[in-house]
Amino acid sequence: MWSSSAVAPNTAVLLTLSLLQLAGGSSDVNSGISNYSFPDDFIFGVSTAAFQIEGGWNEGGKGESIWDTYLHEHPTVTKDHSNGDVAADSYHHYMEDIEMIKKLGVQGYRMSISWTRILPNGTDNNINQEGVKYYRTIFEELVKANITPVVTLYHWDMPTPFMNLGGWTNAKVVDYFEDYARLAFNLYGDLVKMWLTLNEPHFHCFSVYETDVLAPAFNAPGLGVYLCTHNSLLAHARVYRMYEKEFKPDQKGKVSIVLDASMGLPKDPNKPEDVEAAENYLQMNLGMFAHPIYSEEGDYPRVVREKVNNMSRLQGYSRSRLPYFTDEEVTALRGSADFFGLNHYTSELLSPSVMEPNWKVPSLAQDTGVKMETDPSWPMPGADWLYVYPPGIRKLVNWLQNNYKILKKIPIIITENGLTDFGGTKDYDRVDYYNDYLYQLLLAIHEDGCNVKGYFCWSLMDDMEWGDGYTIKFGLYSVDFNSPNRTRTPKLSAYNYANIVRTRRIDFDYIKRSEGLNTTALK
Ligand code: NOJ
Repeated sequence: MWSSSAVAPNTAVLLTLSLLQLAGGSSDVNSGISNYSFPDDFIFGVSTAAFQIEGGWNEGGKGESIWDTYLHEHPTVTKDHSNGDVAADSYHHYMEDIEMIKKLGVQGYRMSISWTRILPNGTDNNINQEGVKYYRTIFEELVKANITPVVTLYHWDMPTPFMNLGGWTNAKVVDYFEDYARLAFNLYGDLVKMWLTLNEPHFHCFSVYETDVLAPAFNAPGLGVYLCTHNSLLAHARVYRMYEKEFKPDQKGKVSIVLDASMGLPKDPNKPEDVEAAENYLQMNLGMFAHPIYSEEGDYPRVVREKVNNMSRLQGYSRSRLPYFTDEEVTALRGSADFFGLNHYTSELLSPSVMEPNWKVPSLAQDTGVKMETDPSWPMPGADWLYVYPPGIRKLVNWLQNNYKILKKIPIIITENGLTDFGGTKDYDRVDYYNDYLYQLLLAIHEDGCNVKGYFCWSLMDDMEWGDGYTIKFGLYSVDFNSPNRTRTPKLSAYNYANIVRTRRIDFDYIKRSEGLNTTALK
């Protein structure tokens, strides 16, 4: 562990803390220590994904995923023409990763299994024992260190042979995903008690099949995007029910899915049409996935069904581009989650629109019919999509809580949240981002009564950021991608997060811009 003396708050901070405690607690955002604290049963963690950190793309018997294949065949797709062949080389440095996680003091580590590391062709006729052992060692080490492994089965690295058959647009892939999931539960279910079936099916389907920003840019807008959505949901339900029947009685784990959402806000809150646009945006992007699983009635939200059906009809289709679930499928999906895994980064301002220059026809974007803008006052310190608006996370968990009654019984866990920049260990913007977003979560918990029970930073370390390659950074730890050892160094945000985890409060003055931190004392 980092020694507590190395990061001890100064006397003024301790004095502020005791005064706050005496006064019953109150602090302004951005100064002092948060008046509220994170409850004892709230878990803190950090997240990664296999393709983004592991490397070892063809080592130890691993087969190719579409990210390996596509980036080898199209090297200019990523901004820096990079690929994930080595990435942060966690395939060789996983013990260092675990030490880093221990130093943060967190209770959870969210990571993913690379499907083709344990099943090189994607199918279970060929199990790669070296890959099986790799993950088993990691899970054993985590459990030994009292860190809960939270394991994503599918974080976008589709086995290449299945992608050649259409990936998630091919309903048969659901069967093979079930086989893979069953194997994972058999292999690791004694150690892993928190499973996530799919990561961000909304962003994934939209980006692979409609906007073409994720591999392999399938270019099937308005049609492929919904087949992918539909089959992803069915795959999730299939695996949830399979675990429930075959494994849960013995293994007693929890299974969910990770859904992603930006908060949708009306551009002008006084205009009813903008208010409606914001709601349509949320339903088309989040409700489409959340409603079948978390609502009482199940199935796609009515507004989603109406929008896609109407537009399909207008465009001359004799059937809706959005497939229908059978009654059995609606039932299997409804309630198929033991918690709500939410990835959130940014917010959008919405107003109605019939057509925008970047929309394809047909497309989910056109079906949704809203124009997305940002507020000029929201900072954008890194990636050109990530605008900082901390109240968005509070509004979003409230939206979920208001829409899905089941969330009174099962908790929301923030499975990803974080900020990009362009590198360096003095990451003050990231420190502020975490402080401010976490503070909004404290307000959601304590003032709004939202049932949020966990928070995972994206990301433990700098990684391969898909199409952005290594040009933007998300890590609490910096990774030197030019060094053969992929040297890892904690950033200020790592110290700040460790302090939040340790004290269960946010100290807005813990890392002062003017003073910086004596990082050598913390090694
Ligand atoms: C969501 C994805 O799950 C993750 O892989 C990605 O790196 C982050 N968002 C940041 O873009």
